[in-house]
Amino acid sequence: MSKNLGQWDKAKRDGRKMTMITAYDCAFARMADVAGLDCVLVGDSVGMMVAGDANTLCVSLEQMEYHTRIVARAVSRALMMADLPFGSFEESPAQAFASAARLIRAGAEIVKLEGGAPMVETVAYLSARAIPVCAHIGLTPQHVHQFGGFKRQGKTQEAATRLLDDAIALAAAGARMVLMEAIPSELATRITQRVEVPTIGIGAGPGTDGQVLVLHDVLGLNPDKAPGFARAYMNGAALIHEALTQYAEEVRANIFPE
Ligand code: KIV
Repeated sequence: MSKNLGQWDKAKRDGRKMTMITAYDCAFARMADVAGLDCVLVGDSVGMMVAGDANTLCVSLEQMEYHTRIVARAVSRALMMADLPFGSFEESPAQAFASAARLIRAGAEIVKLEGGAPMVETVAYLSARAIPVCAHIGLTPQHVHQFGGFKRQGKTQEAATRLLDDAIALAAAGARMVLMEAIPSELATRITQRVEVPTIGIGAGPGTDGQVLVLHDVLGLNPDKAPGFARAYMNGAALIHEALTQYAEEVRANIFPE
């Protein structure tokens, strides 16, 4: 799959599912690129996965620039997406443009920002100024305090209607993709049918145009913290534990080096 965003629109028209995964460093980004993932997302989940924070709110624009730069070095084929972190875009469209431009210069080809209706003006502003945007709605982790935790969204009729309206407005404002996190499957399917741009789901069922997961969840590196909707495709924590203990044992037993 080409990096061209037009290919994503075509994939939606053709009913071909798109794949996205997070990456925060060069080694894993290269593996994701070589494995054929369509998009690598430098997510602000870096704060939780790499820095050990309890949520994503502490992540700075400088951190995102650094991780975007090192991931971009490894990605030659997949689309490069990077998150605008909390506090770097909400004040005004001009603030969002200045922050997004820094991520684009660091190697991002599209930026993702969290929020519904209040972000419509910002999405239009960025889109009119050469910055492709992915709009992230539903369980937007930067709103964790407002939500009172990492809670599923769109459960009531009213909330579902609001999310549908938000998605339509964000797409109309120029968002090139809509990412939906932890919302009911039927709602995500409905939104996917109503908007012309590709939708990406995480914990939103099988009806979206593509899926995204956090790298550490896919590799089974944080089995105790992974959300219920994630799937581990390997038991990374156990495999790494085995390798590290074996290395230490062999050094202590004078087996390594030979
Ligand atoms: O930061 C992130 O990893 C994300 C995904 C959960 C979509 O935004």
